[in-house]
Amino acid sequence: MGRPPLNPRLAEFGTTIFAEMSALAQRTGAINLGQGFPDTDGPEEIREAAVRALREGRGNQYPPGPGVPELRAAVSEHQRRFYGLDVDPDTEVLVTAGATEAIAAALLALVAPGDEVVALEPYYDSYAACVALAGGTRVPVTLRPDGPDGGFRLDLDELRAAVTDRTRLLLLNTPHNPTGTVLTRAELTAVAELACERDLLVVTDEVYEHLVFEGEHVPIASLPGMHDRTVTISSSGKTFSFTGWKVGWVTAHPELLTAVRSAKQYLTFVSAGPFQYAIAEALALPDTYFTALREDLRAKRDLLAAGLADAGFTVHPPRGTYFITTDVRALGERDGFAFCRSLPERCGVVAVPNAVFHDDPEAGRSQVRFAFCKREAVLREATDRLRALAP
Ligand SMILES: Cc1ncc(COP(=O)(O)O)c(C=O)c1O
Repeated sequence: MGRPPLNPRLAEFGTTIFAEMSALAQRTGAINLGQGFPDTDGPEEIREAAVRALREGRGNQYPPGPGVPELRAAVSEHQRRFYGLDVDPDTEVLVTAGATEAIAAALLALVAPGDEVVALEPYYDSYAACVALAGGTRVPVTLRPDGPDGGFRLDLDELRAAVTDRTRLLLLNTPHNPTGTVLTRAELTAVAELACERDLLVVTDEVYEHLVFEGEHVPIASLPGMHDRTVTISSSGKTFSFTGWKVGWVTAHPELLTAVRSAKQYLTFVSAGPFQYAIAEALALPDTYFTALREDLRAKRDLLAAGLADAGFTVHPPRGTYFITTDVRALGERDGFAFCRSLPERCGVVAVPNAVFHDDPEAGRSQVRFAFCKREAVLREATDRLRALAP
């Protein structure tokens, strides 16, 4: 065979690190703190809502292209209730197969070959692949762990310097995976001013919007001048602990939404009929649900952070998400990849090296990410095991 089978645009993207590390966890029986999925399911009444929809024949055949009206109305009401945003359920909401499809559709729709996409590095792994599929060029702006509390921070001067005449859009993620950075209102205001000044679109991935432990989640779409140029992406996976249902959504100005829908219709066309009805009910849960989720994960964050610090890691405290990025140099290690490959044998825990989320692997070489969306007993067992590393 002459030409390799894989489209050259995808040549640099092999198997994801999650597949490799999850296989390692299975082979060794290690505790998997690598991949970000909860080990308990979301609310029972929402599971029952999905069962009811299945039984009553709601969504068992192709649902409408933009999503079922009940879910579009619920997304619109959610944006109003939490952020005071006015989103038209008929023209400004699109339901997708998780945030992953929303990211793909947005980038395929908005990025043309030769366009540059400025994204915050380390980035969620699908961003780079989707920019490549669209024929765009990614331009990373690296978040660094030099915030006042030891957390990661965006350097706004670096962001400004990364924008050129070829820049089409800024790809944001707040709260940010894997660093746990939550962009502040002041930072987002500066980003918004830059977008307006340079006439850029903004695609913002806000799947961890309800997992903010310090500060507040500010949708950039709510800032002056941003409604018409922002594509906001979110998903039910993290907020309701049903990552397998893959119900996500896009909200945007009708013109942008129509563009994203043009790409989406040829990816999945539609998805997850009965689950859409269930997530419509989930979005209407009372405030106590959202508060309890956050407080539960805050306690888990604190538990894992303390355990990692005891074990000798440098911990960069996350303000949001369910991940903690650490540095392993304090343990006498240099390379996060080698460290993660040896960790299951050494102490029965799986983590992922942040280098896989970087264009410049040097920038994240010694950083390693742990997920804390697990049962308390599992986190306690993991921290006990990790203490074996303590010098
Ligand atoms: C930043 C970010 N965006 C998107 C996703 C994927 O969301 P979904 O499962 O809804 O496709 C994840 C999942 O880990 C994520 O961390």
